[in-house]
Amino acid sequence: MSFRVAVVGATGAVGREILKTLHERHFPAREVAAVASGRSAGAQVSYGEEKILTVKNLDKFDFSGWDIALFSPGASISAVHAPRAAAAGCVVIDNTSQFRMDADVPLVVPEVNPEAIKSFHKRNIIANPNCSTIQMVVALKPLHDKFKIKRIVVATYQSVSGAGKEGMDELLANTKVQYVHDKNPPQVFQKDIAFNVIPQIDVFMDDGSTKEEWKMVVETKKILDRKIEVFATCVRVPVFIGHSEAVTVEFENPVTVNEARAALRAAPGVTVHDIREDGGYITPAESQGEDAVYVSRIRKDPTVPHGLAMWIVSDNLRKGAALNAVQIAEFLVAQNLLAKQAA
Ligand SMILES: NC(=O)c1ccc[n+]([C@@H]2O[C@H](COP(=O)([O-])OP(=O)(O)OC[C@H]3O[C@@H](n4cnc5c(N)ncnc54)[C@H](OP(=O)(O)O)[C@@H]3O)[C@@H](O)[C@H]2O)c1
Repeated sequence: MSFRVAVVGATGAVGREILKTLHERHFPAREVAAVASGRSAGAQVSYGEEKILTVKNLDKFDFSGWDIALFSPGASISAVHAPRAAAAGCVVIDNTSQFRMDADVPLVVPEVNPEAIKSFHKRNIIANPNCSTIQMVVALKPLHDKFKIKRIVVATYQSVSGAGKEGMDELLANTKVQYVHDKNPPQVFQKDIAFNVIPQIDVFMDDGSTKEEWKMVVETKKILDRKIEVFATCVRVPVFIGHSEAVTVEFENPVTVNEARAALRAAPGVTVHDIREDGGYITPAESQGEDAVYVSRIRKDPTVPHGLAMWIVSDNLRKGAALNAVQIAEFLVAQNLLAKQAA
């Protein structure tokens, strides 16, 4: 069984990582289309070491006969074209925020709530969560199963690749100009990101939170458990790839550091690297190109009856986006949910 797969947003940070991940994991694709805006139609992108794909224009792309489409062209573009692809019989896995909170669209992290995928038929769309949410719920799911989480307080340290290729270009450009005492007015970020941190990701909401912080709250509840209270502060940092999170968790039940370590060690997708000595933890630069969600600095929070704190790091383009989307596609294949269309 093999499939026709379209990657929409193929020239972007996430789209390129999706192409790489599909190839590396030997996804059973008999044809792969790279799709982006008319601006890059005709350009070329790599699919593995040897194959080059010519980019097609999304506005003219006909999804009939394509089994699966992995979308990352931005929310407003997905809003128009994902339903068009779905109506043509193509199953859409969407990386944008457009459909995540729709009640009839499953929001899925395969290590956490794979069974939710099965309800995708309602719209033919499956949503991939926000990058910061994904890595947090992968690490917290095994702890919730054993010790029941009441409340999460998280502060993120999010890399510029979370804002796409333009975010990465702005960090590089602004870092260079600082060395020659010049200025490059920020365009992607709200303030200069070079040698700085910015406590704003996405727009402000009425209650003073940012939309990125809101996403972490509502998405965690939808994926993990609606009863969990979540409070987030999301911060952009001058790191190219890899999001970090300082997470403090309050549990219903007693939990020791060793019990938490054992539960995390047994969990899919999680690597515990927690040595109480200089450098005995994972930094975002070390997570780049890796599949795992790394958990370090696990320690007791003595300010509540059953509390733990930890440091969670992962490659935001990989588990935070491309890998999670490809794992969803692999689940569809493994469960024979794409069988109707495939050759
Ligand atoms: N970066 C992350 O860590 C991350 C994680 C999870 C989810 N996401 C989400 O994924 C989406 C893409 O993120 P990204 O980081 O890959 O952004 P990006 O690097 O800016 O890439 C955007 C992609 O969308 C395409 N695109 C833009 N306008 C289009 C249009 N009118 N029609 C067709 N394609 C269009 C671009 O094609 P052109 O080259 O032709 O302009 C490019 O391929 C965003 O919604 C983002 O929130 C990102």
